[in-house]
Amino acid sequence: MDSAEKTGTSVVVRMTCAREMAALGNPLLPPCVRVPSEAGEAEVRCDDGSESIVAAAVTDFIRKHRCLPRTVGVEGGPQFEVTPAREGRLGGCVAMVTGSAQGFGKGIAEEMAAAGALIVVADLNAELGEAVAAELCEKHGEQAAVFCSANVTDSDSLNACVEAAVAAFGGLDILVANAGVLKAGGLDEMDEAAFDFVTSVNYKGYFLCTQAVVPVMKLQNRICADWFMDIVQVNSKSGLEGSRRNFAYAGGKFGGIGLTQSFALELVAHHIKVNSVCPGNFFEGPLWSDPEKGLFVQYLNAGKVPGATTVEEVREFYLSQVPMHRGCSPRDVTIAIFYLHEQQYETGQALPVTGGQVMLN
Ligand SMILES: NC(=O)c1ccc[n+]([C@@H]2O[C@H](COP(=O)([O-])OP(=O)(O)OC[C@H]3O[C@@H](n4cnc5c(N)ncnc54)[C@H](O)[C@@H]3O)[C@@H](O)[C@H]2O)c1
Repeated sequence: MDSAEKTGTSVVVRMTCAREMAALGNPLLPPCVRVPSEAGEAEVRCDDGSESIVAAAVTDFIRKHRCLPRTVGVEGGPQFEVTPAREGRLGGCVAMVTGSAQGFGKGIAEEMAAAGALIVVADLNAELGEAVAAELCEKHGEQAAVFCSANVTDSDSLNACVEAAVAAFGGLDILVANAGVLKAGGLDEMDEAAFDFVTSVNYKGYFLCTQAVVPVMKLQNRICADWFMDIVQVNSKSGLEGSRRNFAYAGGKFGGIGLTQSFALELVAHHIKVNSVCPGNFFEGPLWSDPEKGLFVQYLNAGKVPGATTVEEVREFYLSQVPMHRGCSPRDVTIAIFYLHEQQYETGQALPVTGGQVMLN
Protein backbone atom coordinates (compact mmCIF):
# COMPACT_ATOMS: atom_id res chain seq x y z
CA MET A 1 0.00 0.00 0.00
CA ASP A 2 1.12 3.50 -0.65
CA SER A 3 2.17 5.74 2.14
CA ALA A 4 1.75 9.48 2.18
CA GLU A 5 4.69 11.86 2.20
CA LYS A 6 4.81 14.28 5.09
CA THR A 7 5.69 17.85 4.24
CA GLY A 8 5.78 19.97 7.36
CA THR A 9 2.48 19.33 9.04
CA SER A 10 0.61 18.26 5.94
CA VAL A 11 0.45 15.24 3.74
CA VAL A 12 0.48 16.13 0.08
CA VAL A 13 -1.19 13.84 -2.37
CA ARG A 14 -2.19 14.29 -5.97
CA MET A 15 -5.53 13.30 -7.32
CA THR A 16 -5.61 12.39 -10.94
CA CYS A 17 -8.74 12.11 -12.95
CA ALA A 18 -8.87 9.27 -15.43
CA ARG A 19 -7.21 9.94 -18.77
CA GLU A 20 -10.55 9.41 -20.54
CA MET A 21 -12.11 12.21 -18.54
CA ALA A 22 -9.34 14.56 -19.57
CA ALA A 23 -9.86 13.55 -23.16
CA LEU A 24 -13.53 14.39 -22.78
CA GLY A 25 -12.53 17.97 -22.16
CA ASN A 26 -12.85 17.83 -18.41
CA PRO A 27 -9.24 17.97 -17.28
CA LEU A 28 -9.52 20.75 -14.76
CA LEU A 29 -10.40 18.71 -11.71
CA PRO A 30 -8.74 18.99 -8.31
CA PRO A 31 -5.02 18.89 -8.94
CA CYS A 32 -4.03 18.29 -5.40
CA VAL A 33 -5.29 17.82 -1.91
CA ARG A 34 -3.56 18.81 1.28
CA VAL A 35 -4.50 16.70 4.24
CA PRO A 36 -3.12 17.82 7.62
CA SER A 37 -1.14 14.95 9.06
CA GLU A 38 -3.36 14.79 12.12
CA ALA A 39 -5.99 14.01 9.47
CA GLY A 40 -8.48 16.26 11.19
CA GLU A 41 -9.64 18.24 8.18
CA ALA A 42 -8.63 18.18 4.58
CA GLU A 43 -8.57 21.00 2.11
CA VAL A 44 -9.98 19.89 -1.22
CA ARG A 45 -12.26 21.65 -3.60
CA CYS A 46 -13.94 20.25 -6.64
CA ASP A 47 -15.71 22.40 -9.19
CA ASP A 48 -18.92 20.52 -8.58
CA GLY A 49 -18.99 21.21 -4.86
CA SER A 50 -18.12 17.65 -3.85
CA GLU A 51 -14.93 18.76 -2.11
CA SER A 52 -16.00 18.03 1.43
CA ILE A 53 -17.06 14.50 0.50
CA VAL A 54 -13.76 13.82 -1.27
CA ALA A 55 -11.76 15.36 1.56
CA ALA A 56 -13.64 13.45 4.20
CA ALA A 57 -13.21 10.19 2.30
CA VAL A 58 -9.44 10.66 1.96
CA THR A 59 -9.07 11.80 5.55
CA ASP A 60 -11.11 8.90 6.90
CA PHE A 61 -9.15 6.40 4.93
CA ILE A 62 -5.80 7.78 6.11
CA ARG A 63 -7.00 7.79 9.71
CA LYS A 64 -8.20 4.20 9.56
CA HIS A 65 -5.52 2.61 7.43
CA ARG A 66 -2.57 4.98 7.95
CA CYS A 67 -1.95 5.03 4.22
CA LEU A 68 -3.50 6.60 1.11
CA PRO A 69 -6.45 5.18 -0.76
CA ARG A 70 -5.67 4.28 -4.35
CA THR A 71 -8.83 5.90 -5.64
CA VAL A 72 -11.52 8.12 -4.29
CA GLY A 73 -14.87 8.82 -5.89
CA VAL A 74 -18.02 10.78 -5.42
CA GLU A 75 -21.34 9.06 -6.05
CA GLY A 76 -22.51 10.12 -9.48
CA GLY A 77 -19.39 12.23 -9.81
CA PRO A 78 -15.77 11.86 -10.78
CA GLN A 79 -13.44 9.08 -9.69
CA PHE A 80 -9.88 10.09 -8.83
CA GLU A 81 -6.69 8.14 -8.56
CA VAL A 82 -4.73 9.17 -5.49
CA THR A 83 -0.97 9.26 -5.92
CA PRO A 84 1.46 9.92 -3.08
CA ALA A 85 3.88 12.71 -3.85
CA ARG A 86 7.44 11.61 -4.63
CA GLU A 87 10.00 12.48 -2.01
CA GLY A 88 12.53 15.27 -2.42
CA ARG A 89 12.97 18.99 -2.70
CA LEU A 90 10.38 19.12 -5.50
CA GLY A 91 8.20 16.32 -4.10
CA GLY A 92 4.55 17.06 -4.84
CA CYS A 93 5.39 19.20 -7.88
CA VAL A 94 4.63 18.61 -11.54
CA ALA A 95 6.99 20.36 -13.94
CA MET A 96 6.79 20.83 -17.68
CA VAL A 97 10.19 21.47 -19.28
CA THR A 98 10.08 22.60 -22.90
CA GLY A 99 12.98 21.69 -25.15
CA SER A 100 14.00 18.88 -22.79
CA ALA A 101 14.93 16.28 -25.41
CA GLN A 102 18.55 17.43 -25.24
CA GLY A 103 20.91 20.12 -23.96
CA PHE A 104 20.09 22.29 -20.96
CA GLY A 105 16.44 21.16 -20.94
CA LYS A 106 17.32 17.48 -20.70
CA GLY A 107 19.74 18.12 -17.83
CA ILE A 108 17.20 20.33 -16.03
CA ALA A 109 14.51 17.64 -16.41
CA GLU A 110 16.92 15.03 -14.99
CA GLU A 111 17.86 17.22 -12.02
CA MET A 112 14.24 18.11 -11.28
CA ALA A 113 13.14 14.47 -11.51
CA ALA A 114 15.95 13.50 -9.13
CA ALA A 115 14.56 16.14 -6.74
CA GLY A 116 11.14 14.47 -6.77
CA ALA A 117 9.23 16.35 -9.48
CA LEU A 118 7.00 14.59 -12.00
CA ILE A 119 8.14 15.70 -15.43
CA VAL A 120 6.44 16.49 -18.72
CA VAL A 121 9.13 16.34 -21.39
CA ALA A 122 7.76 18.73 -24.04
CA ASP A 123 9.77 18.91 -27.25
CA LEU A 124 9.56 19.00 -31.05
CA ASN A 125 11.91 16.05 -31.26
CA ALA A 126 9.76 13.02 -30.46
CA GLU A 127 12.50 10.43 -30.82
CA LEU A 128 14.90 12.03 -28.33
CA GLY A 129 12.08 13.33 -26.10
CA GLU A 130 10.48 9.91 -25.70
CA ALA A 131 13.89 8.46 -24.86
CA VAL A 132 14.41 11.09 -22.14
CA ALA A 133 10.98 10.37 -20.61
CA ALA A 134 11.69 6.62 -20.71
CA GLU A 135 15.08 7.11 -19.01
CA LEU A 136 13.47 9.19 -16.26
CA CYS A 137 10.81 6.51 -15.67
CA GLU A 138 13.46 3.81 -15.56
CA LYS A 139 15.41 5.75 -12.96
CA HIS A 140 12.66 7.25 -10.83
CA GLY A 141 9.63 4.97 -11.27
CA GLU A 142 7.32 4.23 -14.12
CA GLN A 143 5.10 7.26 -13.57
CA ALA A 144 7.89 9.80 -13.10
CA ALA A 145 7.69 11.36 -16.58
CA VAL A 146 5.69 11.55 -19.78
CA PHE A 147 6.67 12.84 -23.21
CA CYS A 148 4.46 15.30 -25.04
CA SER A 149 5.05 16.47 -28.58
CA ALA A 150 5.28 20.25 -28.43
CA ASN A 151 6.06 23.10 -30.73
CA VAL A 152 6.37 26.26 -28.65
CA THR A 153 5.24 28.35 -31.61
CA ASP A 154 1.94 26.45 -31.82
CA SER A 155 -0.59 27.08 -29.08
CA ASP A 156 -2.68 23.97 -29.89
CA SER A 157 0.26 21.68 -29.21
CA LEU A 158 0.98 23.51 -25.94
CA ASN A 159 -2.62 23.25 -24.78
CA ALA A 160 -2.45 19.51 -25.52
CA CYS A 161 0.69 19.24 -23.36
CA VAL A 162 -1.03 20.99 -20.45
CA GLU A 163 -3.98 18.61 -20.76
CA ALA A 164 -1.55 15.69 -20.85
CA ALA A 165 0.13 16.98 -17.67
CA VAL A 166 -3.19 17.26 -15.86
CA ALA A 167 -4.35 13.87 -17.11
CA ALA A 168 -1.11 12.13 -16.15
CA PHE A 169 -0.24 13.91 -12.93
CA GLY A 170 -3.29 15.89 -11.83
CA GLY A 171 -1.90 19.39 -12.28
CA LEU A 172 1.03 21.59 -13.23
CA ASP A 173 3.14 23.56 -10.76
CA ILE A 174 6.28 24.60 -12.62
CA LEU A 175 6.82 25.60 -16.23
CA VAL A 176 10.42 25.73 -17.34
CA ALA A 177 10.24 27.62 -20.66
CA ASN A 178 13.57 26.41 -21.98
CA ALA A 179 13.11 25.64 -25.69
CA GLY A 180 15.20 28.04 -27.71
CA VAL A 181 17.16 28.34 -30.94
CA LEU A 182 20.15 30.33 -32.07
CA LYS A 183 20.97 31.70 -35.49
CA ALA A 184 23.83 34.14 -35.22
CA GLY A 185 24.66 36.70 -37.88
CA GLY A 186 25.34 40.38 -38.40
CA LEU A 187 23.16 42.90 -40.22
CA ASP A 188 24.82 41.98 -43.52
CA GLU A 189 23.93 38.29 -43.12
CA MET A 190 20.62 37.96 -41.28
CA ASP A 191 17.60 37.56 -43.54
CA GLU A 192 14.05 38.23 -42.45
CA ALA A 193 13.09 34.54 -42.34
CA ALA A 194 15.95 33.72 -39.97
CA PHE A 195 15.10 36.70 -37.75
CA ASP A 196 11.43 35.63 -37.63
CA PHE A 197 12.37 32.04 -36.81
CA VAL A 198 14.59 32.97 -33.86
CA THR A 199 12.07 35.53 -32.60
CA SER A 200 9.08 33.22 -32.86
CA VAL A 201 10.71 30.38 -30.89
CA ASN A 202 12.60 32.41 -28.28
CA TYR A 203 10.22 35.33 -27.71
CA LYS A 204 6.72 34.46 -28.93
CA GLY A 205 7.19 30.84 -27.78
CA TYR A 206 7.66 32.00 -24.20
CA PHE A 207 4.40 33.98 -24.39
CA LEU A 208 2.48 31.01 -25.82
CA CYS A 209 3.86 28.59 -23.20
CA THR A 210 2.88 30.96 -20.40
CA GLN A 211 -0.57 31.51 -21.87
CA ALA A 212 -1.12 27.73 -22.07
CA VAL A 213 -0.18 26.92 -18.46
CA VAL A 214 -1.77 29.84 -16.66
CA PRO A 215 -5.44 28.65 -16.65
CA VAL A 216 -4.53 25.45 -14.79
CA MET A 217 -2.24 27.31 -12.41
CA LYS A 218 -4.94 29.87 -11.61
CA LEU A 219 -7.39 27.07 -10.92
CA GLN A 220 -4.90 25.39 -8.58
CA ASN A 221 -4.54 28.65 -6.72
CA ARG A 222 -8.34 28.79 -6.34
CA ILE A 223 -8.35 25.24 -4.99
CA CYS A 224 -5.39 25.65 -2.63
CA ALA A 225 -4.89 29.30 -1.73
CA ASP A 226 -1.46 28.69 -0.17
CA TRP A 227 -0.08 26.84 -3.20
CA PHE A 228 2.69 28.76 -5.03
CA MET A 229 3.57 28.02 -8.62
CA ASP A 230 6.46 29.00 -10.85
CA ILE A 231 7.12 29.97 -14.41
CA VAL A 232 10.85 30.05 -15.08
CA GLN A 233 12.16 31.11 -18.46
CA VAL A 234 15.59 29.89 -19.45
CA ASN A 235 16.93 33.15 -20.81
CA SER A 236 20.65 33.82 -21.42
CA LYS A 237 23.47 36.14 -20.50
CA SER A 238 22.65 37.58 -23.94
CA GLY A 239 19.36 38.78 -22.42
CA LEU A 240 21.38 41.03 -20.09
CA GLU A 241 23.96 42.51 -22.43
CA GLY A 242 24.23 42.82 -26.20
CA SER A 243 25.80 40.06 -28.26
CA ARG A 244 27.93 41.08 -31.24
CA ARG A 245 26.58 39.82 -34.59
CA ASN A 246 23.92 37.89 -32.67
CA PHE A 247 21.17 40.51 -32.37
CA ALA A 248 18.19 38.30 -33.27
CA TYR A 249 18.98 36.04 -30.34
CA ALA A 250 19.91 38.81 -27.90
CA GLY A 251 16.89 40.92 -28.89
CA GLY A 252 14.47 38.06 -28.26
CA LYS A 253 16.12 37.27 -24.94
CA PHE A 254 16.02 40.93 -23.81
CA GLY A 255 12.33 40.91 -24.78
CA GLY A 256 11.86 37.75 -22.74
CA ILE A 257 12.86 39.64 -19.61
CA GLY A 258 10.22 42.26 -20.45
CA LEU A 259 7.67 39.45 -20.65
CA THR A 260 8.90 37.98 -17.36
CA GLN A 261 8.50 41.30 -15.53
CA SER A 262 5.07 41.93 -17.03
CA PHE A 263 3.75 38.39 -16.47
CA ALA A 264 5.05 38.58 -12.89
CA LEU A 265 2.96 41.69 -12.21
CA GLU A 266 -0.13 40.15 -13.81
CA LEU A 267 0.10 36.79 -12.06
CA VAL A 268 1.35 37.70 -8.60
CA ALA A 269 -2.18 37.79 -7.19
CA HIS A 270 -2.60 34.14 -8.22
CA HIS A 271 0.58 33.03 -6.42
CA ILE A 272 2.27 32.37 -9.75
CA LYS A 273 5.85 33.65 -9.63
CA VAL A 274 7.56 34.42 -12.93
CA ASN A 275 11.33 34.68 -13.24
CA SER A 276 14.12 34.16 -15.76
CA VAL A 277 17.46 32.47 -15.29
CA CYS A 278 20.24 33.79 -17.49
CA PRO A 279 22.89 31.11 -18.00
CA GLY A 280 26.34 31.49 -19.43
CA ASN A 281 27.53 29.19 -22.19
CA PHE A 282 27.00 25.44 -21.84
CA PHE A 283 30.19 24.41 -23.63
CA GLU A 284 29.67 20.68 -23.14
CA GLY A 285 26.14 20.77 -24.63
CA PRO A 286 25.31 20.00 -28.26
CA LEU A 287 24.85 23.65 -29.22
CA TRP A 288 28.57 24.29 -28.68
CA SER A 289 30.19 20.86 -28.87
CA ASP A 290 28.36 19.04 -31.67
CA PRO A 291 31.31 17.86 -33.82
CA GLU A 292 29.61 18.89 -37.09
CA LYS A 293 27.18 21.72 -36.36
CA GLY A 294 28.44 22.96 -32.97
CA LEU A 295 29.39 26.59 -32.44
CA PHE A 296 33.06 25.73 -31.75
CA VAL A 297 33.38 24.20 -35.24
CA GLN A 298 31.32 26.98 -36.83
CA TYR A 299 33.39 29.72 -35.18
CA LEU A 300 36.64 27.97 -36.15
CA ASN A 301 35.53 27.71 -39.78
CA ALA A 302 34.28 31.31 -39.84
CA GLY A 303 37.58 32.57 -38.37
CA LYS A 304 35.64 34.29 -35.61
CA VAL A 305 38.49 33.84 -33.11
CA PRO A 306 41.58 35.54 -34.59
CA GLY A 307 44.58 33.19 -34.73
CA ALA A 308 42.67 30.08 -33.61
CA THR A 309 43.45 27.02 -35.72
CA THR A 310 41.79 24.28 -33.64
CA VAL A 311 38.50 23.74 -31.84
CA GLU A 312 40.48 23.60 -28.57
CA GLU A 313 41.84 27.11 -29.18
CA VAL A 314 38.36 28.44 -29.91
CA ARG A 315 37.12 26.79 -26.73
CA GLU A 316 39.97 28.26 -24.66
CA PHE A 317 39.18 31.71 -26.04
CA TYR A 318 35.58 31.50 -24.78
CA LEU A 319 36.59 29.90 -21.47
CA SER A 320 39.05 32.73 -20.83
CA GLN A 321 36.12 35.17 -20.79
CA VAL A 322 34.56 33.44 -17.78
CA PRO A 323 36.07 34.48 -14.43
CA MET A 324 35.40 30.98 -13.05
CA HIS A 325 37.01 29.50 -16.16
CA ARG A 326 34.36 26.91 -16.88
CA GLY A 327 31.08 26.72 -18.74
CA CYS A 328 27.61 26.68 -17.24
CA SER A 329 26.08 23.26 -16.56
CA PRO A 330 22.45 22.11 -16.37
CA ARG A 331 23.03 21.55 -12.65
CA ASP A 332 24.05 25.22 -12.23
CA VAL A 333 20.83 26.30 -13.95
CA THR A 334 18.67 23.89 -11.94
CA ILE A 335 20.10 25.16 -8.65
CA ALA A 336 18.94 28.62 -9.73
CA ILE A 337 15.49 27.16 -10.51
CA PHE A 338 15.38 25.54 -7.04
CA TYR A 339 16.16 28.90 -5.50
CA LEU A 340 13.46 30.70 -7.49
CA HIS A 341 10.95 27.98 -6.60
CA GLU A 342 11.76 27.97 -2.89
CA GLN A 343 11.99 31.75 -2.56
CA GLN A 344 8.39 32.86 -2.13
CA TYR A 345 9.29 36.53 -1.72
CA GLU A 346 10.61 37.23 -5.21
CA THR A 347 9.14 37.52 -8.68
CA GLY A 348 9.94 39.24 -11.97
CA GLN A 349 13.69 38.76 -11.64
CA ALA A 350 16.40 37.79 -14.11
CA LEU A 351 19.00 35.72 -12.28
CA PRO A 352 22.43 35.41 -13.92
CA VAL A 353 24.22 32.04 -13.70
CA THR A 354 27.40 32.93 -15.53
CA GLY A 355 30.43 32.14 -13.38
CA GLY A 356 30.93 35.88 -12.87
CA GLN A 357 30.86 36.77 -16.57
CA VAL A 358 27.84 39.05 -16.29
CA MET A 359 27.25 41.06 -13.15
CA LEU A 360 24.11 43.06 -12.52
CA ASN A 361 24.30 46.76 -11.75
N1 LIG B 1 23.75 26.33 -24.85
C1 LIG B 1 24.11 27.50 -24.32
O1 LIG B 1 25.29 27.81 -24.25
C2 LIG B 1 23.06 28.45 -23.79
C3 LIG B 1 23.48 29.56 -23.03
C4 LIG B 1 22.53 30.41 -22.49
C5 LIG B 1 21.18 30.15 -22.69
N2 LIG B 1 20.80 29.08 -23.43
C6 LIG B 1 19.37 28.85 -23.59
O2 LIG B 1 19.05 27.58 -23.06
C7 LIG B 1 17.94 27.04 -23.78
C8 LIG B 1 18.29 25.66 -24.25
O3 LIG B 1 19.42 25.75 -25.10
P1 LIG B 1 20.31 24.49 -25.49
O4 LIG B 1 21.66 24.98 -25.79
O5 LIG B 1 20.15 23.42 -24.50
O6 LIG B 1 19.64 24.09 -26.89
P2 LIG B 1 19.67 22.73 -27.70
O7 LIG B 1 19.66 23.15 -29.13
O8 LIG B 1 20.71 21.79 -27.24
O9 LIG B 1 18.24 22.09 -27.34
C9 LIG B 1 17.07 22.77 -27.62
C10 LIG B 1 15.89 21.82 -27.52
O10 LIG B 1 14.72 22.58 -27.83
C11 LIG B 1 13.94 21.87 -28.79
N3 LIG B 1 13.20 22.83 -29.60
C12 LIG B 1 13.67 23.68 -30.53
N4 LIG B 1 12.67 24.38 -31.08
C13 LIG B 1 11.54 23.98 -30.46
C14 LIG B 1 10.17 24.34 -30.59
N5 LIG B 1 9.77 25.24 -31.50
N6 LIG B 1 9.27 23.73 -29.79
C15 LIG B 1 9.67 22.79 -28.90
N7 LIG B 1 10.94 22.41 -28.75
C16 LIG B 1 11.87 23.00 -29.53
C17 LIG B 1 14.93 21.07 -29.60
O11 LIG B 1 14.31 19.94 -30.22
C18 LIG B 1 15.95 20.67 -28.53
O12 LIG B 1 15.58 19.47 -27.90
C19 LIG B 1 17.62 28.02 -24.89
O13 LIG B 1 16.55 28.85 -24.51
C20 LIG B 1 18.90 28.82 -25.02
O14 LIG B 1 18.66 30.11 -25.51
C21 LIG B 1 21.70 28.21 -23.97
